[in-house]
Amino acid sequence: MQKTDVTIRAIAPGEELPMELLLLADPSPEMIASYIYQARVYVAEKDERLIGVYALTLTEPGRPEIRNLAVAEDFQGQGLGKLLLRHAIERARENGAERLLIGTGNSSVGQLYLYQKMGFEITAIRKNYFVQHYPAPLTENGIPCRHMLMLEMELGTGAAFRTAGGPDISPIT
Ligand SMILES: CC(C)(COP(=O)(O)OP(=O)(O)OC[C@H]1O[C@@H](n2cnc3c(N)ncnc32)[C@H](O)[C@@H]1OP(=O)(O)O)[C@@H](O)C(=O)NCCC(=O)NCCS
Repeated sequence: MQKTDVTIRAIAPGEELPMELLLLADPSPEMIASYIYQARVYVAEKDERLIGVYALTLTEPGRPEIRNLAVAEDFQGQGLGKLLLRHAIERARENGAERLLIGTGNSSVGQLYLYQKMGFEITAIRKNYFVQHYPAPLTENGIPCRHMLMLEMELGTGAAFRTAGGPDISPIT
């Protein structure tokens, strides 16, 4: 995938939400509905197909949270997740945020790797979050997914750009 072929843009008012993508990151349509309408939703588009998504919510002033990050299965592992994270970091910085939050399940080993590699640090555990908020037990990588690990990035340090290898990724608006 040529990163220059991908456009990342905010979803237009009234545009249909990319539910198929959103459900990759969050299996509960009810949970998605609980935050997505308060969020700014960004999509990655290539050849008129939506291949990635993330949502930025603002529940605490100055501390936006990425609530749903997903890449279409046939585009995973090609750097688009990193590109979307960098885009989210840039948007948060532009909006004057001090910190950027992202949460993931205790069983999401790859996601924990990716987020920490990008410069996020684990700061909190929401114990039994998935047990309490999801109707059926979740398992991933053979591990019961029970707790939400919260990660934060302090903005203004530039860490994300250094660790993500910024120069090989072209800026996308
Ligand atoms: C998580 C996700 C967004 C990552 O997007 P991606 O485009 O596949 O990620 P990238 O290609 O940018 O990968 C970045 C790095 O993370 C690693 N990585 C990403 N997801 C991984 C996974 N599930 N398992 C292992 N490693 C993973 C890649 O190997 C890569 O490592 P490298 O930089 O050392 O080469 C994507 O896999 C996805 O949509 N998954 C399903 C939805 C989901 O789980 N969303 C997150 C909810 S918290």
